[in-house]
Amino acid sequence: MLSWTRGYFEGAGIVQPRLEAEILLAHALDVDRLHLYLSPDKPLSVEERSRFRTFVQRRRAGEPLQHLIGEVTFFGLRFRVSRDALIPRPETEELLDRTLRLAARDRELHCLDLGTGSGVIAVCLARYLPRAAVTAVDVSTAALELARANATLNDVADRIEFIESDWFGSVPGQFDLVVSNPPYVASSAVDDLAADVRDYEPRVALDGGEGGTQAMGAILSSLAGHLSPGGCVLFEIGDGQGDDVSRRMHDAGLCEVRIDRDLSGRERFACARGPS
Ligand SMILES: C[S@@+](CC[C@H](N)C(=O)[O-])C[C@H]1O[C@@H](n2cnc3c(N)ncnc32)[C@H](O)[C@@H]1O
Repeated sequence: MLSWTRGYFEGAGIVQPRLEAEILLAHALDVDRLHLYLSPDKPLSVEERSRFRTFVQRRRAGEPLQHLIGEVTFFGLRFRVSRDALIPRPETEELLDRTLRLAARDRELHCLDLGTGSGVIAVCLARYLPRAAVTAVDVSTAALELARANATLNDVADRIEFIESDWFGSVPGQFDLVVSNPPYVASSAVDDLAADVRDYEPRVALDGGEGGTQAMGAILSSLAGHLSPGGCVLFEIGDGQGDDVSRRMHDAGLCEVRIDRDLSGRERFACARGPS
């Protein structure tokens, strides 16, 4: 079954056909992948075959693997995923890593995750910064529900305040760390994204308006009054947006502005500090 599925997926241009076949078979059988190697000759029941075949067909039709499995691992923690929020990406693990390295551990920190989606950033901040008070914001009610479920799954629901808001619109208070992976695809480029992104991810999670930097512009224009003295702002950004975001950060009165590249060498992170 695995050999056949590998070929079938390869024909559809799936990049890791054997791996995805194994993941889906293990999911259909409700076992982990190692089990497939421990019992390679186990015959499948009619129900198991039919469950696997359904997953294979849905994947071949373009549905993301993560939606079929219903969960991902992000920064060492498990998260539920669905069509209500963006599937978390590896670049965002890098954003989180940079945020954690900036975070003081010797005092209580107020952290804000703007555009929390599935809640990965907020939940990880709460888990890895035990003294942090975390606020998670999204404009999407459905995404916030998913984020709440993920906070419960990771035992940090009592450490995160969830707010439905258009960026800072309904968010009170000041924060030491403001992190955001906002929508940053230029509106004109959304229809050209790969089908498994364009057709399955919420548009509100992708579309960053003209040039892709409008969401960051909106956040920065209402940042004043929400950043503690000397507080940090970190964004995930798109390749080629560094100059624009850097200018917007300077215009917002931020200092120590830096644009950094991700592991694949693309401009991906913008970081700045507020005046002390
Ligand atoms: C790129 S996704 C990031 C999701 C998650 N933080 C992650 O890194 O996987 C952007 C998120 O911003 C939210 N969003 C878009 N416009 C917003 C707005 N005006 N106010 C608040 N959140 C917004 C979307 O609903 C989406 O969940």
